[in-house]
Amino acid sequence: MATGSFAVDGHVSGFNERITASVVITCIVAASGGLLFGYDIGISGGVTTMKSFLQKFFPSILRNAANAKTNIYCVYDSQVLTAFTSSLYIAGLAASLLASRLTAALGRKGIMVLGGCTFLAGAAINGFAENIAMLILGRIMLGFGVGFTNQATPVFLSEMAPPKWRGAFGTGFQFFIGIGVLTANCLNYGTARISWGWRLSLGLAVVPAAIMTFGALLISDTPSSLVERGKVAQARKSLSRVRGSDVEAELADLIKYSEMAKAADQEPFKTIFERQYRPHLVMSIAIPFFQQLTGINIIAFYAPVLFQSVGFGSDSALIAAIILGVVNLCSILVSSFVIDRYGRRFLFMEGGIQMCICQAIVAAVLAVAAGTSGTKHISKGDSILVLVLMCLYASGFGWSWGPLSWLIPSEIFPMEIRTTGQSISVAVNFATTFVLSQTFLAMLCHFKFGAFLFYACWIAVMTIFVYFFMPETKGIPLNSMYAVWEKHWYWGRFVRRQP
Ligand code: BGC
Repeated sequence: MATGSFAVDGHVSGFNERITASVVITCIVAASGGLLFGYDIGISGGVTTMKSFLQKFFPSILRNAANAKTNIYCVYDSQVLTAFTSSLYIAGLAASLLASRLTAALGRKGIMVLGGCTFLAGAAINGFAENIAMLILGRIMLGFGVGFTNQATPVFLSEMAPPKWRGAFGTGFQFFIGIGVLTANCLNYGTARISWGWRLSLGLAVVPAAIMTFGALLISDTPSSLVERGKVAQARKSLSRVRGSDVEAELADLIKYSEMAKAADQEPFKTIFERQYRPHLVMSIAIPFFQQLTGINIIAFYAPVLFQSVGFGSDSALIAAIILGVVNLCSILVSSFVIDRYGRRFLFMEGGIQMCICQAIVAAVLAVAAGTSGTKHISKGDSILVLVLMCLYASGFGWSWGPLSWLIPSEIFPMEIRTTGQSISVAVNFATTFVLSQTFLAMLCHFKFGAFLFYACWIAVMTIFVYFFMPETKGIPLNSMYAVWEKHWYWGRFVRRQP
């Protein structure tokens, strides 16, 4: 059988593409890596509004909140508080770049285990934190944890999944991020009533870390990663386990491309800057950058803060966040079902348009309801309208930029630059998250409802970008992906034709 025969528009991979129980279980276990990231996103958003937590570490914010009758947009504007949240992202950025080097020795699975252990240590430090230094140290460890796992897990899923269903398997990562966020939100709702509840919320991050680490120890590494590290016999075993039978064609394909990658024998961080990899480099930067500019983390980190400041009480703020979480989760499931049928571009376009409209209307509602200076009291009805719009927004994100920003970078890179490309992508994701979360509360305070318009404009830009520059990648085996660039109206001029 010809290795890697395929068609770009329909889909014929020439490989055994059966979904076996083994591939499903392996990928569920791996995707649970998303739990770590999701749990942290949800927990930090909630904990930073807990009174006992603020009293212990950030008492000045409580004093501000008490005097905040004047302007709803500025209550939580504190650089120290945002530094606490975003210190994780700087550490994660460093870790993801480091992960690219370490995968050569440890494989994808090894990186996941390493990430799980670091996250576990960070969670323990945070749970027992007595001062800001401990708090930040814990967050840096958590950052290393998610830097490693976010780098390795999406690639693991893409390499393990049968090409025809890679989209559905890939969305698993975002699904677990969503579960993590939701679990954390529910937990915060309970722990907010206990004086040391913040310790529980932060400390219980050891649970997702333990689940993933233990699970990762039980699964085998991806055939691709094993072949890359010269472990062909183990790769055959891993492939037989997940595909069932008929694995020789796929194995031969992996070996062929691994040898080509090795023959190039170059420093991957240099290689990716070659002209022939221009589309890959651009996507590895643009996709995560744009994902963050959807404004999702305003909602994810600060949904409770936001709801509280637009008039919900502190309990109802958490309930609002939970509702958002459920909507998000359901919409990720929707994407799992349609992504391999309608393709990535369709989801990008639909989700983009939906999110753009929602952000624009949120801006308009806030402008009218709270007044352009933010001093008018927002009615319950308007608060609920904002919540409904945010739910619509979250569902648009959940079936487009959420899962796709992890899936696309994990599937577009050829083997020789795959880990580097994915590392760049995670690093850009974290760097952008850092800058945006560091500036969002100040931006909300100064731009007021205009902050939401800012994101609406970016969503319009990224939707146009996808329309013109993002080729469809559904169903195409990873090692045959070069053809989508060759055929692309713009990127075709950069890539070197494959024999
Ligand atoms: C994003 C995060 C975001 C999360 C929300 C992820 O895909 O990278 O920044 O907080 O989705 O569920």
